[in-house]
Amino acid sequence: MKNRHLIACLFSVLIATGLAFAACSSVPEAANFDGGAPMPPGGLERRPYLIAVTDSSAIVRWRTFTPSTPTLRFWGPGDTIPVRAPLPGPNTDHTVLLKDLSPVTEYTYQIQTEDLGWNNPAKFRTFASPGADDPFTFLVFGDSGTRNTGQMALAQQLNNENPAFIIHTGDLAYKSGTEAELSINHFQVYAPLLRRAAFFATPGDHDLRTRNGGPFIAAFNPPGGWDSGAAFYYTFDYGNARFIALDTKDTDRHKRLYGSLANKSGKSYRWLVAQLEAARADPNVDWIFLFFHHSPYSASTGWGGHGSDEDIQEILVPLADEYGVNFTFSGHDHDYQRSHSLRGDEIVQDGYGTVYVVSGGGGGKRTFRGTGSKWFTAYADQVYHYIRVHVNGYTARMEAIDTEGQAFDSYTVSIPLERRKTRETEALPAAQ
Ligand SMILES: [Fe+2]
Repeated sequence: MKNRHLIACLFSVLIATGLAFAACSSVPEAANFDGGAPMPPGGLERRPYLIAVTDSSAIVRWRTFTPSTPTLRFWGPGDTIPVRAPLPGPNTDHTVLLKDLSPVTEYTYQIQTEDLGWNNPAKFRTFASPGADDPFTFLVFGDSGTRNTGQMALAQQLNNENPAFIIHTGDLAYKSGTEAELSINHFQVYAPLLRRAAFFATPGDHDLRTRNGGPFIAAFNPPGGWDSGAAFYYTFDYGNARFIALDTKDTDRHKRLYGSLANKSGKSYRWLVAQLEAARADPNVDWIFLFFHHSPYSASTGWGGHGSDEDIQEILVPLADEYGVNFTFSGHDHDYQRSHSLRGDEIVQDGYGTVYVVSGGGGGKRTFRGTGSKWFTAYADQVYHYIRVHVNGYTARMEAIDTEGQAFDSYTVSIPLERRKTRETEALPAAQ
């Protein structure tokens, strides 16, 4: 498959948009792959990070402190000549779309900012194609961006991970999601991780306080927007799993600007239902994961604890039940909670319900003392953490990891035999 990357020879730069497209190889350039001198850290406000990676493309984005005219180059396994993407400039924000890549393949890229030299190369892997059953690992965390000791200790563990991608449950940059807070409390903290794994975000209330989420959108939305056509709703696939990002902010002003899930005749709700119908009908999709900020089930109480968001519960739980959502990940409460397998507001056998996970312990203040336990609670604790999820075919295992790198909770679930879909190339497993 890697030859597809070599054979096609398409290379173009759209100067007007400030976005560079780079695809394939055979660029007649005797490039030096040795990495050159490391780029001085002072040149980059946001080191290169990956968004919207798919099985055939990736977007690399970075920001310089001062306007510059940079170049990106990348190569795949076995390539002897890299693809170069000179960018239009001078600009401070730089975006390159790498196209015509092969699935589950490691690529290496570097950037150069004028006379600062090539930075250290970074490696990333493209995603497995829809329906492929390649095992994969992703991370989840939320409510992170304070730059306090808790966030920084957890970041040390996160930056040692090598996941396929990361999803975030919102509140990346306290207090108000400004450009500077995003740079300092997010991009600079997780730079070693973000350069090699795609980051998929959903906004928390704090991320929306500045220009209605303008800095968040500029940082995380791909050029041209998401598949939903809306600012904060999107889907992506990895192999046999579909991920759906939602916007659960519901103030009047936000609803006017971005729509509302609570309006069942509105565009957002109808889009979600269509996505869930499509996922359930798609033979390539075994797992459905939703992620968003406000939690349908939360046992957090007391001052600063939000608890269950009843509006979100009323909207999402019937849909999760009807379409067989496997997991939801949310934040907002600064703790870790895992529900039992739930369906119809009752505990059901594992594999036959939805597990609602609160992961809001990425570094936000732990000011409340009320992570309790309710009828739906399987595990709850107020602890800085992230979640590592490993999907292997019809089995998913999640572990909650603390600042010492220790798993303090784990849960494994398999899709029951009678609920597994039949793919064209695969016979249904015999019932036992
Ligand atoms: Fe929040």
